[in-house]
Formats: sequence, structure tokens, C-alpha cells
Amino acid sequence: MTILGSTGSVGRSTVDLIARDPASYRVEALVAGSSVELLAEQARRLRAQLAVVANPDRYRALKEALAGTSIIAAAGPEAVAEAASLPAEWVMAAVVGFAGLAPTLVAARRGAIVALANKEALVCAGRLLIEAVEHSGGMLLPVDSEHNAIFQVFEPQQRQAIDRLILTASGGPFRNWSLADMADATPEQALAHPNWDMGDKISIDSATLMNKGLELIEAHLLFGLPAEKIEIVVHPQSIIHSMVGYCDGSVLAQLGTQDMRVPISYALGWPSRIDGPAARLDFTNLSALTFEPPDSGRFPSLQLAREALATGGLASIVLNAANEAAVAAFLVRRIGFLDIARVVEDVMVGWEGATTRLESLEQAQVADLEARRRAEEGCRKRSLSD
Ligand SMILES: NC(=O)c1ccc[n+]([C@@H]2O[C@H](COP(=O)([O-])OP(=O)(O)OC[C@H]3O[C@@H](n4cnc5c(N)ncnc54)[C@H](OP(=O)(O)O)[C@@H]3O)[C@@H](O)[C@H]2O)c1
Repeated sequence: MTILGSTGSVGRSTVDLIARDPASYRVEALVAGSSVELLAEQARRLRAQLAVVANPDRYRALKEALAGTSIIAAAGPEAVAEAASLPAEWVMAAVVGFAGLAPTLVAARRGAIVALANKEALVCAGRLLIEAVEHSGGMLLPVDSEHNAIFQVFEPQQRQAIDRLILTASGGPFRNWSLADMADATPEQALAHPNWDMGDKISIDSATLMNKGLELIEAHLLFGLPAEKIEIVVHPQSIIHSMVGYCDGSVLAQLGTQDMRVPISYALGWPSRIDGPAARLDFTNLSALTFEPPDSGRFPSLQLAREALATGGLASIVLNAANEAAVAAFLVRRIGFLDIARVVEDVMVGWEGATTRLESLEQAQVADLEARRRAEEGCRKRSLSD
């Protein structure tokens, strides 16, 4: 196996599962962005063949951290793509953001089983990824807890009888905040997710509900249902991870504690199930399971994602790139929390030719770069220091 993004939140959970049963796995490559110390420690622990850091400036540090081992060190985006091209049967795609698209596509094109956490890759280039998997005979296994839940209860032989998907959302840390309070929200407050411990970018996306918007697009691409058959319901306890509704009125749900090692274990063991260390649900201790509709007035990102999906073409690349740039600007306090969605909306509204069909990775990269540039401009205009 190979883990793209091994030093992140999903990556570390994957490493934890593999380290519990080292005899069952052979690790080909581990890939990180720039955290070389943790990467080297993981590579030693899992006896990986290759460790790659995307940031070329960190090559020497990685080499030094691996001194005395036979683990090969490499750096730079080409080395990341090469790591994905090695013949690992199973690849965890857990790089955050658009940066994960290129290596994920490489793994999909050579027929690997791709455990997909990196939702941005699918949102931006869904057609390319799905076609790659179809041509190569590979597989995409959803790791995002909602899509993994749906995958577990989606009966492919009953496809015609499925009349809706129900994605659950925790509502994030600002579920009950007023707009006025949200306007002053700090990165620390936005990062404090009530239920899940995740990387910074997805935590902010959970606070704006852009995460649910990206997941809506992801669900459409993975399961082929139109947007109007994908419902979003806020379920603050995050016990039900998502549901599938059938034409007879039955609803099948997957439940569990809030531990990403559950969906990762499912993807690791697929098509079998393997033992997992996650805490078991104790139903006698569950106070209540509650549900409410999302508030699109306070969380406009959801609607922006619906519009991107309806537009098709390059629109979701524009949505995603502008969001990545705006989230990064918010995290360093350059813009306010509510500005994130405003910046994204401005870039989307000003984009001509969004319906252009996506044909190649290069085309996606050009659109991504340009949308980031425009979002940067938008962030500058809204800069808090002005
Ligand atoms: N965390 C969750 O519970 C969760 C749940 C569902 C889905 N997801 C999805 O899974 C993906 C990862 O999320 P996360 O929370 O694990 O993120 P994270 O903690 O920020 O980790 C991101 C990983 O990507 C690496 N990375 C960053 N830029 C890179 C680049 N240019 N090339 C190669 N590697 C790079 C990071 O390396 P460094 O450590 O060196 O920066 C790190 O290993 C996201 O798409 C997210 O939406 C996450």
C-alpha cells in the first residue's frame, strides 16, 4: 500500500491501523507535504520502501531523518506522482485540497484500489477520476465518513429502488451562532469542531458548511443520483453518518462513534471487514439523536456548491480553488469568517465559460490557478487590515 498524506489527520489514523497489524501489509510509499520528522518516523515504523516530501526544500532534512535506513528519500511534486505510480495495490488518497488530484489520478489510472479521503480531487475532476478508474479496472472506495456510510448501505442491485441519499452534517461550531457573532469568529473558534478532530482546512469547511457542499458534489459523483435527490440534514450528534432512502419508504443508515478509523478500516478490509479499535456505540448512553434543516441564510456556501454542481464543467474547480484560497486567508486573519463565502461567490459570479467541459488535468490546473489568483485579489479587497 501507499499513503498519500500520511502525516495528516486521516493519514495518521491510517498509519495507526496498519501499525496494529504490520504482518498484513507491505508499505510501498508514504507521502507528506513538509512534515519530514513525522514522515521519517512513520516510514521507519512501517518499514516503507520510499518516503516522499512534496516540498523540495525539505529533501535534505528528510534524507538526514532517514539516515541509517534503506528507505529511499525523494522530494518534489514529480516524486509525489512517482510514488503514486509504484505498484501498490491499495492507495490512501489523504492529501488535503487540489494538490492531491495529480497523484490520486496517477494511482487511479494504473488500476489501484483508491481509498478516497481527498474529496477536493473528486469535486474538481470527478469525471477524469471516474473515467480513469473505469478504464483501468481500479476502484474508488469512499473514506469520507458520510460517503463511506452510504457505500455501506447502498445496495447496487437495488439502484433503481433508491430514491434519495441523506447526508448528515454536524452543523459545525457555529450551528447556533448569530450572523453578527459569526462575523467576528476567530480561526480558533472556527477550528474547534464539536465532534471531530480533523485537519485545519476541513475544520474551517465544516464551520462554513462548505464541507457539506463539497460532499454533496462528491455524493453525486460517487453514487450517480441527481442533486435534487441528495438531502442534507443537520444531526449535531454525528452518530448517524448518512443514510440511503428506498422507494418503499425504508431508510438504511450507518451508525458509529466519531472515529475516522471506522471508515478507514472498512476501506482497508474491503470487501471483507477487519477488526477496528474504535470505541463501540453504547446506545444506553446516547441522550438523543436530533435532526434539523441546514440554515442556508447563515451558511451560503451550501448554495454555492449546489450552483457549482448545477453549472457543471469547470465550476466546481473554481468553487474549490476560491474556497481553498479564502480559507487560507481566514486562517491567517487576513479576512473575516463570513468573507470566505463572499470571496468564493465573487470568483464564481465573475467566471466566464464555467460550463466548459473538463478534458485534462492540465486544464484543471490552469483553472485552479486562475481561480486562486482571483480569490487572492478578492481577499486583498476584503482584507481586515484595510
Ligand atoms: N480529517 C478528517 O477526519 C477527514 C474526514 C473526511 C475527509 N477528510 C478529507 O481528507 C483529506 C485530508 O484531510 P486531513 O484532515 O487529514 O488533512 P490534514 O490533517 O491537513 O493533512 C493533509 C495531509 O496532506 C499533506 N500535504 C499537504 N500538501 C501536500 C502536497 N502539496 N503534496 C503532498 N502532500 C501534501 C500533509 O502533509 P504535511 O503534514 O507535511 O503538511 C498531510 O499529510 C481532505 O481532503 C479532507 O477533506 C478528512
